[in-house]
Amino acid sequence: MVQISDNSDFPRPRLPGPQQIIDFSRSIPPLPEIFARSLQATLTELSLIDSIGLTSRNSIAGGSLTDRAAARIWLQSRLPEPITPERLLVTNGTQSALLLLFEAIIGQGGLLAAEALSYGVLAQLAKRAHIRIAGLELDRDGIEPSFFEYTCKTRRPKALYCNPTVHNPTATVMSKARRKIIVEIARRYSVTILEDEPLGCLHPDAPEPLARIAPDITWYVAGLTKGLAHGLRIAYVVGPSERDMEVVVGEARRLSHWFPSPIATTIVNSWITSGVAEQIRQDISREAVWRQQLAEAVLSGHDMSIQHGGLHAWLLLPQRFDQNEFARKLAGNNVLVRSSDAFAVDPLANCTNAIRVSLSSPTSRDEVEHGLHLIASSL
Ligand SMILES: Cc1ncc(COP(=O)(O)O)c(C=O)c1O
Repeated sequence: MVQISDNSDFPRPRLPGPQQIIDFSRSIPPLPEIFARSLQATLTELSLIDSIGLTSRNSIAGGSLTDRAAARIWLQSRLPEPITPERLLVTNGTQSALLLLFEAIIGQGGLLAAEALSYGVLAQLAKRAHIRIAGLELDRDGIEPSFFEYTCKTRRPKALYCNPTVHNPTATVMSKARRKIIVEIARRYSVTILEDEPLGCLHPDAPEPLARIAPDITWYVAGLTKGLAHGLRIAYVVGPSERDMEVVVGEARRLSHWFPSPIATTIVNSWITSGVAEQIRQDISREAVWRQQLAEAVLSGHDMSIQHGGLHAWLLLPQRFDQNEFARKLAGNNVLVRSSDAFAVDPLANCTNAIRVSLSSPTSRDEVEHGLHLIASSL
């Protein structure tokens, strides 16, 4: 058994039985003990508030001023400059935020540039918004600049969607120098940047967001799913200006499908202002470090991209394996992973021969360890 130093109170349930599925396919955070304890305590407190019924009526486009004040605190580690509440939106998750942005900034028939491998639902979201996607080549540093420039010159995308901090799925962190080059190209071709940084809170030392380098052309989206509150469905959005925000919210102000639930924001606001959110974030981060170190130990010698404390690893397969066959073989052993084509924005493009292993989704460490050994033995 691999020994990793342990200083957390993460649960250690039983070793998986022969039929138990070890699910490394879902990109959800580990579940530290403090999460359930805090949720129970906060729900109990809320249940005792006489005016809780009124709270539930507080469903507001973009969140209340209190919701946005909490957002401001949460975003501080990545965006320390002042942000007025008029430049902030609270939505019920990243997907809702992206749909709003696609509809308002790109418009039907318009073109979105995006990393060729990207957030698995991006292609579906684009289809819903009736926009097209141009996939951009990637290297070990993120979006390949000459490919991006060529796309801007020849295809004139309206916006760039990117995930520069611990990219999903390749786990790369775009360097500071590369961020500056990408921003310069976007500026030169009047391309709006949509930066999705759900993992920024778990990697506060990553190079500064594009939204700090070019706040005037960048929309920054940070969902709470990974670093704080999976399932409460909250994302924070920072726009370039109050005027831009008006354009994006526009007529959607009366469509409630993207509004945050007032009960969810009440829980999250109380955690952020009391410091509980920071404790949960730290526990998730500590557990992610433990799992990442375990993955490095068990899969050492294999071509794997993983960040310190990353929630997922990107495992490049030797040529003798086909990614889909390999994933099927693992599934036969009750280990679920995603092969790279699940992330391709263009279904016809040739994909890297790789799988994504979401270390964070199994609830117990024993499952993670057992699953990693099964992957190692399949290699
Ligand atoms: C790149 C990226 N953005 C955002 C999210 C989370 O989205 P949501 O806030 O809708 O849960 C994920 C989750 O997998 C993701 O991989």
